[in-house]
Amino acid sequence: MGIGTWSWGNQFVWGYDESMDPELSSVFNAAVDAGVNLFDTADSYGTGNGLDGRSEVLIGTFLRQCPSAKVDGVNVATKFAAYPWRITRKSVVNAARESCERLGKESVELGQLHWSTGNYQPLQERALWGGIADAYDLGLIKAVGLSNYGPKQLRKIHAYMSERGVPIATLQVQYHLLSRFPELNGTRETCDELGIRTIAYSPLALGLLTGKYSTENPPPGLRGFAYKDVLPPLPGLLDCMRAIGRERGKTLPQIAINWCLCKDTTPIPGAKTMRQLEDNLGALGWRLSEGEVAELDAAAEKVGKSTSQNIFQTA
Ligand SMILES: NC(=O)c1ccc[n+]([C@@H]2O[C@H](COP(=O)([O-])OP(=O)(O)OC[C@H]3O[C@@H](n4cnc5c(N)ncnc54)[C@H](OP(=O)(O)O)[C@@H]3O)[C@@H](O)[C@H]2O)c1
Repeated sequence: MGIGTWSWGNQFVWGYDESMDPELSSVFNAAVDAGVNLFDTADSYGTGNGLDGRSEVLIGTFLRQCPSAKVDGVNVATKFAAYPWRITRKSVVNAARESCERLGKESVELGQLHWSTGNYQPLQERALWGGIADAYDLGLIKAVGLSNYGPKQLRKIHAYMSERGVPIATLQVQYHLLSRFPELNGTRETCDELGIRTIAYSPLALGLLTGKYSTENPPPGLRGFAYKDVLPPLPGLLDCMRAIGRERGKTLPQIAINWCLCKDTTPIPGAKTMRQLEDNLGALGWRLSEGEVAELDAAAEKVGKSTSQNIFQTA
């Protein structure tokens, strides 16, 4: 399991402000001390006045200040956004350099293309592929990852990278009990066939699977609007998660994250507070049974709604 840091610096969706930094620093240190060695960020994480690149800057600061000896083993995964002005290979290489600077690292362990432009700007896509392969060859990133690629587009980039002799290490997609498309549209099979590790992003469905939100108490801001159709049919799934949790002495977030582990993915739940981190760490060290996973799958199916997908997700 890794920790996702989209909320670390994002005002609009997550209500971030700088007064949260001391607690985020404690979350980082405690996670490292507990053995978490993967933090997922992006060059576009940091939204609001003066917050550009904030998540990477915070991780860079926390890495330098972390008192735990385990910090040396921490891997950072960042993402390079397919901004409309990134139309040359060099612009992606520059993006990798800028991320390294913000993170205070000579090289980032995993550099990922944040999304594919295959659906709307195929020519840019070629530059993104070439650029991230160049960044790998230059040693600015130690491994190449992808995000929001579907199986068809994945095969295309895999063919390109194979020609360049660059392995694709990971693919991150929205994968949780309310977003099961990766196991239904061939993404998982393709990743497994090509030897690519699946990273499950938003494993708590942006908080919906923690049980704290409902039609009467929707998530604040944009999340409440985006998920207004999912909240009414959600209680059946939450009841199933609660029943399993009661038997096992586990919380809902722990059940949700463990489900992702049972699907052989690397989940990267976000955590903004120490309480959330401690809760989420309780997802480790045990496994749901096959029968429980099947029960959860069936309850998820009955919800009949998926959370909204990333608009850049390709086939
Ligand atoms: N590649 C992509 O396009 C993409 C897209 C999305 C996310 N991601 C990555 O995936 C990571 C995780 O996804 P996410 O941050 O979208 O959502 P998530 O992990 O599904 O949910 C995280 C949010 O749920 C709440 N929460 C977390 N633990 C909790 C607990 N134990 N009890 C109660 N509430 C809890 C917190 O928000 P509240 O307290 O405000 O509810 C937290 O910020 C991101 O940080 C990012 O690194 C990638």
